[in-house]
Amino acid sequence: MKNTAILALALSGILLTIPFAQSAEEDGRQLVTLPENMKTHTLANMRDHLHTLEEIQSALAKGNYDAAADMAEQRLGMNSLESHQGKHMAPFRPDGMNQLGWDMHKAASRFALVAQESAVDRDLPRALGALSEMTQQCVACHAAYRLK
Ligand code: HEC
Repeated sequence: MKNTAILALALSGILLTIPFAQSAEEDGRQLVTLPENMKTHTLANMRDHLHTLEEIQSALAKGNYDAAADMAEQRLGMNSLESHQGKHMAPFRPDGMNQLGWDMHKAASRFALVAQESAVDRDLPRALGALSEMTQQCVACHAAYRLK
């Protein structure tokens, strides 16, 4: 009796897992093919984006609003476009992806402005709100595209 119950539990576990395993393999994101060197460069950039995000959060936690603003502007904002070779890459990426990249740079520059104001009024919630509007662009692009 006990064994039957365990077997039934194990079986239902397997049956429940199958649909999840299948849906995990489905990937609705658009595949973007880049030349190998550009892909490597893009992914290195992405890792730097995450690193910058971590440094911005750490600066905010210490109340260093000006440092957070500088990092956002220089490494994620409109000022970072030249170093990211945006123009060079643009023709290889779908329009929607370029737009999201553009939106992220603009949101980072907006955050930088808000953070500079927070240096004066110490309004951390507002600065975090602006930071989250920037990270929404990371999330949106990752949900829509993947690289080959
Ligand atoms: C315009 C689109 C776009 C934006 C904006 C974007 N990413 Fe990405 N990111 C990608 C794509 C595409 C990949 C590759 C995903 C894949 O192939 O599965 C990626 C990969 C990554 C990776 C993995 C890197 C690796 O070595 O595999 C990290 C980390 C990352 N992004 C962080 C970020 C952060 C943080 C932001 C925002 C500050 C951001 N990205 C904004 C498109 C974007």
